[in-house]
Amino acid sequence: MPTAFAAAEIVLDDLLDLDTYPIHQLTHPVRAELVAETRSQMRAVGCCRIPDFVRPDTVRQMQAEAAALHDQTYWSVQNHNPYFSPDDDRFEPDHPRRTFQHRESGFINADLLPPDSPLRRIYDSDVVLHFVWECLDTTRPVYRWADPLGRNPYGVQAPGHSLPWHFDGNEFTVSMLAQNADEGGIFEYVPNIRRPEQENYEHVAHVLAGGRDGVRQLNLRPGDLQLFAGRYSLHRVTPVRGKTVRYNGLPSYVHDPFRMNRPYHSENIYGRATQLHMDRALLEVDGLVD
Ligand SMILES: [Fe+2]
Repeated sequence: MPTAFAAAEIVLDDLLDLDTYPIHQLTHPVRAELVAETRSQMRAVGCCRIPDFVRPDTVRQMQAEAAALHDQTYWSVQNHNPYFSPDDDRFEPDHPRRTFQHRESGFINADLLPPDSPLRRIYDSDVVLHFVWECLDTTRPVYRWADPLGRNPYGVQAPGHSLPWHFDGNEFTVSMLAQNADEGGIFEYVPNIRRPEQENYEHVAHVLAGGRDGVRQLNLRPGDLQLFAGRYSLHRVTPVRGKTVRYNGLPSYVHDPFRMNRPYHSENIYGRATQLHMDRALLEVDGLVD
């Protein structure tokens, strides 16, 4: 039965577990319960996990897709601060703005995904967009993102890689883990450690120095859907060990679909920036560093 969303719908039944999670049935009580529970977790800690959301066959397709594109991964090896901003000697030497940690990981950029990509189809679905929007419990509009590289890439961490503490440039990230590491690769976060106009540098410095106050762990499994507010919560992925590459599908939803990653950020993380990245970087947004 068609839903209320689009004239030409993406068929989700073979991609997502709609039997357990009837997100396409707007008035279904199970959907209402799921939205309420997710909202409450997002309010409390800015993070929520919906287990086994993606069907096992689709998870396997995502693993195969990521493996097939693996050689086109843009690997970045660099030291960066949590804000992806250049060094700034107006701050003290041990300030978070001047604390650079080693990052080694990659992205399979969104513009590499083929038209029939399962990750792309899930991202392009209005049913999923509206479900995510409701879960985020915001009165502001939520959109798919214009950024051609960062809108729905795979994050890739090979054994030995690490993704140190940082904030995201976009407001929310939805993760769909495709393949886990043998060991490590654990998502850690500090809920709502900063807010607009209030960076809370002292607590950030504590965590960067190895402190564990406020640090939480989330052990994601392939097929889980994770909602995360990454602009305000410092987060990282612990070093990956063993033999298996970690692939994480990252469909990114935003309040402002027009703005993209700043060129410095995009070049460092995705390997390039387009002219649109340059043009749109001139917009003022929320007063945070990045
Ligand atoms: Fe992030």
